[in-house]
Amino acid sequence: MDFPGVALVTGGASGIGKATAIRYAIEGCKRIVIADVNAELLQTTQKEIQEKYPDAKVKAITLDVRSLESVQNMVDEAVAEFGRIDYLANVAGIVKYGNTTILSEEDWDLVLQVNLRGVFFCSKAVIKQMLKQEPLISKNSPYPARGAIVNVASQAGLKGNGDLPCYSASKHGVVGLSKSDGLKFATDGIRVNALCPGTIETPILGKLPQGDIAKERQEARMREIAMKRVGQSDEIAHCIMFLTSGRSSFVTATYLAADGGYR
Ligand SMILES: NC(=O)c1ccc[n+]([C@@H]2O[C@H](COP(=O)([O-])OP(=O)(O)OC[C@H]3O[C@@H](n4cnc5c(N)ncnc54)[C@H](O)[C@@H]3O)[C@@H](O)[C@H]2O)c1
Repeated sequence: MDFPGVALVTGGASGIGKATAIRYAIEGCKRIVIADVNAELLQTTQKEIQEKYPDAKVKAITLDVRSLESVQNMVDEAVAEFGRIDYLANVAGIVKYGNTTILSEEDWDLVLQVNLRGVFFCSKAVIKQMLKQEPLISKNSPYPARGAIVNVASQAGLKGNGDLPCYSASKHGVVGLSKSDGLKFATDGIRVNALCPGTIETPILGKLPQGDIAKERQEARMREIAMKRVGQSDEIAHCIMFLTSGRSSFVTATYLAADGGYR
């Protein structure tokens, strides 16, 4: 694939975000920003990618997606370093477990702030930047592109989950935001899509309840996945590559489900 522009990945320190930054480097993107609230892990990830892929310049920026000021600082720093932002992967996210009668007000607010408000803030700041940029041509498409955004939602953004009502509500919101921004900015040459992964093996799974109940739920979940396995971060990173590259130049305001065939 051809990525002549600048990639920005939130949640880039771990899991799907880290795999996405690595994939951009493998696919030949030369300017990559990873941003995350976990400053220590972010530095480790930056070093790891930079050492393994010296052809790419990887910049790490500490970010809290809940703060518009922090998000604007990230965009300003990224543009000061690389001059523009062409591919935005909004990957940062958290999960809090518990049905509506159990879930605390604090956890409700926190999940909505990170998963939905965070995507809104990053989209707001980055789309404003993209609108100022001259479009780029890639080898993958004859159509100039001013930018492409992928918002990582979830299978829980397409279907309810009784034990994850807040997470599911936040991810349904991300799908709605993606469809809306995709429609609004289509004629500006900016594409926006949501990506809805199924169960992917990353550290976030450890934040769900463990033990016997978890085992039962995991077995029930497996029965629902046609492929009978969980996915890997790099499989999701590949989808992000497609959705931000010129290969998906006619795809916008929609979602891609990457869930191994979910019943
Ligand atoms: N793993 C799965 O099964 C799965 C399935 C569907 C969707 N997702 C979504 O994929 C995304 C990535 O999750 P993951 O599985 O890689 O988990 P992960 O925990 O490995 O990565 C999430 C990253 O987001 C960062 N983050 C959290 N709060 C932040 C904040 N306020 N500001 C900036 N960064 C913040 C974390 O520090 C972490 O590095 C999330 O949006 C998640 O909801 C994951």
